[in-house]
Amino acid sequence: MIRLAVIGMGGRGSDLTAKLARIDPELTVGAVVDPDPAGVRLRLARLGLDGPRWQLQESQFISLENLVERPASFDGILIATRDRLHTPQACAVAKTGLPVLLEKPVAINREQLDSLAETFAGRMDSVVVPFPLRETPLFKRVCEIVRSGVLGIINHVQAVNFISYGGTYFGNWYRDYDLCDGLWITKTTHDFDYLNQLLGVRPRTIAAMETRRVYGGDKPADLRCSACAITATCPESPQAMLRRGDSGGVFRGDAGQVGSLRPGAPSPPAVRYSDLGPDDHWCMFSSISNRHHDAASCLISYENGVLVSYSQNCVSRRSAGSRGARITGYLATLEFDWNRNSLTLIEHHGRQVTTENIDAPEDGHGGGDELLLRNFLAVIRGREKSRSPLDDAILSVAMSLAARESCRSGRSETVDVPPEMNRTRVARVNFSVERTPQSR
Ligand SMILES: NC(=O)c1ccc[n+]([C@@H]2O[C@H](COP(=O)([O-])OP(=O)(O)OC[C@H]3O[C@@H](n4cnc5c(N)ncnc54)[C@H](O)[C@@H]3O)[C@@H](O)[C@H]2O)c1
Repeated sequence: MIRLAVIGMGGRGSDLTAKLARIDPELTVGAVVDPDPAGVRLRLARLGLDGPRWQLQESQFISLENLVERPASFDGILIATRDRLHTPQACAVAKTGLPVLLEKPVAINREQLDSLAETFAGRMDSVVVPFPLRETPLFKRVCEIVRSGVLGIINHVQAVNFISYGGTYFGNWYRDYDLCDGLWITKTTHDFDYLNQLLGVRPRTIAAMETRRVYGGDKPADLRCSACAITATCPESPQAMLRRGDSGGVFRGDAGQVGSLRPGAPSPPAVRYSDLGPDDHWCMFSSISNRHHDAASCLISYENGVLVSYSQNCVSRRSAGSRGARITGYLATLEFDWNRNSLTLIEHHGRQVTTENIDAPEDGHGGGDELLLRNFLAVIRGREKSRSPLDDAILSVAMSLAARESCRSGRSETVDVPPEMNRTRVARVNFSVERTPQSR
């Protein structure tokens, strides 16, 4: 029976715990480090974890120091606090030697990145970082096609993330730049990771630009729709969201998702620790978000000569949402989109155009969460190594830092990895063919 210790049992921590409990019904949570025990209990109950085993006692809420002193009481540790706590907490628990599931972004600045790499040098495989995109059936199929060589020599990738739920980053806790250190770090880390896996070689330089033309503004940080004079006409009001049948990803309060506002969808659960009423949310035009971008682009050069352009936009909505890429090779072009779960392969020198629709679960990040959680349990049991190890996540944060710095400097920046990384391979996801036939 696996005994888990959870550090940060908020929205994501409780969701991952519930998914783990579905995969392994015997799993128990031995201890929780979280300053909000009442909120933890509420979230677990809301997710159906309300049996006797899930009635967490006061004594099970412990400090981080206490957890580190009792490694024999646990088999694995899940860290799902907010972004800037990930590195210090991961480094603190490293001395337990236990496998860790560490949420992204694994670090938010250079100092954190270096200390994480130093602390986990030689055991990056004992950490699973939830990058679910890399485990989705669509992405696996894309990698299979790329590695088969049918595209010929690849020279270009055009990647996009037109985020249909971009309200998340302006109406939820992410709106406070100081809590997540910006979208290059907290959001783009996912996309940089899949691009690295796809190409299988190291990124060399990044030139980035960003803008904010829609969200943020001069509204007070504590303004919410119910207290706002223009809520009747604001396109981001709860009423407007209901009319269009789409929340745009706006969360309610400090945590707790509004959920789908589509007709017939179950009503959203109450959020105890929110100050907000059930049909309320924080203003998305507030000064607290003024350091965020709402659109950004970058150019990445890889060491084999492939060029990648990447664009991210937070104001896209509904079916305008798109996440995926167009990969151009000498022999063919491959396009794929997670929002549509489909890919198209277009021959350049023949007549064939092939479209494939790939089945994927609607929740759990297209099935990626479940596969990585199964991998985490197997790492705990000593049967597998991490399929999403820490050094891959460190590389993706190194790219995020280079992109952020490039926006500041106005120059192309080198992707600088900690010295420990120079000894490790870059992309290690387990595809059937390890090297792309066209890589040089
Ligand atoms: N991999 C993914 O696809 C994915 C998806 C969603 C969120 N996330 C990441 O998960 C993390 C958590 O996001 P969330 O939306 O659940 O946030 P949240 O605010 O709902 O949860 C954070 C939890 O940490 C607790 N906490 C605060 N200070 C703490 C401390 N010092 N020690 C221990 N616990 C503390 C809070 O009480 C809360 O329960 C973020 O870093 C986010 O980027 C990843």
